[in-house]
Amino acid sequence: MTKQTKLGGTFTLPGTTISLQRMGYGAMQLAGPGVFGPPKDVDAAIAVLREAIAAGVNHIDTSNYYGPHVTNQIIKQALHPYPKDLVIVTKLGARRSGDKTWIPALSRQDLINGTQDNLRNLGLDRLDVVNLRVGGIAEPTEGSIEEQVTVLADLKRQGLIGHVGLSNVTPGQLEEAQKITEIVCIQNFYNLAQRKDDAFIDSLARQGIAYVPFFPLGGFTPLQSSALDGIAASLKATPMQVALAWLLHRSANILLIPGTSSLNHLRQNLAASALELPSNAVTALNEVAGNVVMSGYPTH
Ligand SMILES: NC(=O)c1ccc[n+]([C@@H]2O[C@H](COP(=O)([O-])OP(=O)(O)OC[C@H]3O[C@@H](n4cnc5c(N)ncnc54)[C@H](OP(=O)(O)O)[C@@H]3O)[C@@H](O)[C@H]2O)c1
Repeated sequence: MTKQTKLGGTFTLPGTTISLQRMGYGAMQLAGPGVFGPPKDVDAAIAVLREAIAAGVNHIDTSNYYGPHVTNQIIKQALHPYPKDLVIVTKLGARRSGDKTWIPALSRQDLINGTQDNLRNLGLDRLDVVNLRVGGIAEPTEGSIEEQVTVLADLKRQGLIGHVGLSNVTPGQLEEAQKITEIVCIQNFYNLAQRKDDAFIDSLARQGIAYVPFFPLGGFTPLQSSALDGIAASLKATPMQVALAWLLHRSANILLIPGTSSLNHLRQNLAASALELPSNAVTALNEVAGNVVMSGYPTH
């Protein structure tokens, strides 16, 4: 039996005193359709953020390219001045065009501009943790990231960034980055159905680095599996709650940032950290990976 504690317990980012509840919140769903423009109901978005914080969440994942600007501005409107222990993790590496596409923005100037945009829209003097987002969304692409990590290390020296993470990267890219600056977290695509990073997660756990899966619930195409439905029914939980509980069980360095624009889903997601998974459920969940339906991811 896996017994989970409130919000999954805590994890301390390596080389820091930052202690994060393992159940956090991903803010991407707070922008309008296609992660572009304002949401239908800004007050509802604010209510979701405030309830997450009131429940003890101290890790919010965002980016200035959600909206763009919109999601960060809503976070500021909802939560500023921020609680002392709140850690807002943001990302650099993309920008949005008027037709909603996602364009890589990885030049030195792009990264400096992105830092300034995040600082301004979040109302901060220093960004707690910044992930350099590199590869395509479906899977990372090999290639040197030395130039970009060097820019982030400079921004860290200037005090504009507290700590550096990487997103959509390979183990080789992590190794290259570690020669330049300390890396505290990796944010890649991983969930019950998408297990390409299994060995990477184990290696990060050995190094004490956080692994923060994006699309923990399947993202734009939510996880679907009759086996998952059956296990959830037997545990009197929802399939999404079981998918989150499985991730918490998978490795102690996994931190969750499920995204939702709904108070009801937020409550269900937070409650998932207290869901106990009997060992036979874990075994069955480990076996369903190949049968979960997920398709249609763009390669940006
Ligand atoms: N680094 C990257 O490249 C990258 C890429 C994508 C995302 N991210 C980050 O990862 C976070 C999480 O990803 P995500 O939000 O795209 O995907 P996700 O958490 O896997 O899934 C979000 C989707 O699931 C729904 N949902 C949430 N909770 C639910 C529940 N309890 N029951 C049923 N449906 C539920 C949401 O709809 P409702 O709004 O209706 O609840 C939304 O459609 C994002 O917020 C973002 O911060 C990073």
